[in-house]
Amino acid sequence: MNKVKIGLVGLGWMGAEHGRNILAHPRAELAAVCDADPANVRKFQAATGFKGKVFKDYKALLKSRVDAVVIASPNALHADMAVAAAQARKHIYCEKPMAINPADCRRIRDAVDRAGVKYLIGYHRRLNPLYQYARRLLDEGKLGKAFMVESDYLHHVPGNLGIWSWLGKEKVAGSLFHGGSGHNVDLIRYFCGDVTEVACMKGAFLPREPQVETEDTAVAVFRFASGAIGKVQCCVGPILPFHFNFKLYGTKGSVLDNHVWLDDMPRFAEAGRTSGGLTLPETWIPDNVQGGVGEPWDKLMAHFIAMLTDNTPCLNDVASAYQTSLACFAAVEAARRKKVITIKEMDQ
Ligand SMILES: NC(=O)c1ccc[n+]([C@@H]2O[C@H](COP(=O)([O-])OP(=O)(O)OC[C@H]3O[C@@H](n4cnc5c(N)ncnc54)[C@H](O)[C@@H]3O)[C@@H](O)[C@H]2O)c1
Repeated sequence: MNKVKIGLVGLGWMGAEHGRNILAHPRAELAAVCDADPANVRKFQAATGFKGKVFKDYKALLKSRVDAVVIASPNALHADMAVAAAQARKHIYCEKPMAINPADCRRIRDAVDRAGVKYLIGYHRRLNPLYQYARRLLDEGKLGKAFMVESDYLHHVPGNLGIWSWLGKEKVAGSLFHGGSGHNVDLIRYFCGDVTEVACMKGAFLPREPQVETEDTAVAVFRFASGAIGKVQCCVGPILPFHFNFKLYGTKGSVLDNHVWLDDMPRFAEAGRTSGGLTLPETWIPDNVQGGVGEPWDKLMAHFIAMLTDNTPCLNDVASAYQTSLACFAAVEAARRKKVITIKEMDQ
């Protein structure tokens, strides 16, 4: 059986996870890796026994015999790398965020469309079993019409992590809201569809050295084309363990993290809607631990490989990634300008 040859750019925290998942997949070959820092390459080689090609420059990797690339570099580099990959006719798995401004996102979308390559954005939580379960309930009509949704990203991100060398800098990372809560915005879009308008308030409250240049805290409110409304709260640095919650309210049922209530559940209805319901495994709640069931990076990589080997339809393509990004940019703009911002305004 032919294996799909993948090149991996960026061997930091996320790239190393992707590298391990590609190496473990029976239908993929990790043909080449690239990192600007040779120490990170050595660390990856020592941890995995990787013996394939190594490049310092991603453009050289793109000239090698790979079918696809996984981009796991700092955010501001995603645009040039994804555009170059598309122009080299390589399929793309790109880490979130898609890019750090609307113009770069459009460059990526246009290059991908022009080249006709496949593109998957790295919002792995869509494949978390909780959200797959909730999505099935919605598709089967058991939740009725979804009218309200919320999801928050509360992540203490320890100050000693290497990622702080770039994460708080606007020119390299873009906004922290997009970087962190892009996951939540993507998730609420997965359930309620495209966003039309956004309101938001934000600030930088937490003491840090160096201080975050954008915001570490934000609350954004969304209206969807379906008429539903939603909320995403982002805080990077609160004094608590990683929290990623999700609440979906439909006209016939609700999902609150791992709890489900449907209006026709016998025990719930008989109890006057005061008890009963269904409790799903707590281990399905995202915990930001590498390789856990709640954080299915391996499943998203397997989906990407299936897109290439079996033509499996893409779960979250370039057009969808663009919509999530516009909703995030609109939130930051709404806070900055103290007014509701439409997605149309961001899409020009
Ligand atoms: N999907 C998720 O849940 C998730 C989680 C964490 C990070 N991420 C994303 O993954 C990306 C990487 O984040 P990270 O936490 O791994 O950061 P990191 O700093 O640990 O790793 C980044 C790597 O990119 C390398 N790099 C920098 N410039 C490069 C260049 N020009 N060419 C090649 N390599 C280069 C660095 O040397 C480093 O090894 C970011 O976009 C981040 O938003 C996604």
